[in-house]
Amino acid sequence: MNFRSQNWPWAALAGVGMLALAAVITRPNHARANAHHLPANPHTDGDGRTLVAYYSRSGFTRLMATEIARQHKARLVELVDPSYQGALGYVWAILNSHRRTATITPATLDVSAYDTIYIGAPVWLGTSAPEAWAFLHNIELAGKKVVLFNTLSGKFSQRYVEQFAALVQQRGGTFGGHLYVLSDKQTPEQFVAAVREKLS
Ligand SMILES: Cc1cc2nc3c(=O)[nH]c(=O)nc-3n(C[C@H](O)[C@H](O)[C@H](O)COP(=O)(O)O)c2cc1C
Repeated sequence: MNFRSQNWPWAALAGVGMLALAAVITRPNHARANAHHLPANPHTDGDGRTLVAYYSRSGFTRLMATEIARQHKARLVELVDPSYQGALGYVWAILNSHRRTATITPATLDVSAYDTIYIGAPVWLGTSAPEAWAFLHNIELAGKKVVLFNTLSGKFSQRYVEQFAALVQQRGGTFGGHLYVLSDKQTPEQFVAAVREKLS
């Protein structure tokens, strides 16, 4: 066995660790900054026929979800997954970015009251974070219009959007489109303004 075959897993792990450390050191604390721009309890019951369900690690997708919910008078539900918090969570987010399962709370919801369901998450390594896929898998889609929304710093693969749309259609729903807004180098105010422009 040569050096490469013996050591590559450790080298890969060290690389991911250094990446996480660099991200933690160089990036501002978005979660804390974004939290100031939210209502005390962003969960709302809504009075319409629309549900907005989202996962957010550092707050941008939460801001976008809140704006969508406000616009549609929708019920807003956060999909909580503590697995990806902090520096170690960042490493797990990289490693699990292409998973399509996640332990989310709530795991599922009775969506019978809604015509339209928005499902949102950040983009991780080109695809939607696993929580969006997990929620999609766990709810009843027949007769529903499903809109995917993402926040991201710059790049995503159109392929996962097509796969998401195909899953919705296979399960009897209608894909209502993909909305995304860039969060990189945005203050929360700039980001919310960009979201409002996108939704207008
Ligand atoms: C592990 C990880 C991987 C990411 N990969 C991408 C990516 O491939 N493309 C991209 O544009 N942004 C990427 N980002 C940036 C996030 O998508 C972006 O910051 C997003 O707005 C964060 O949303 P949140 O604040 O709701 O967690 C990544 C972020 C993390 C933590």
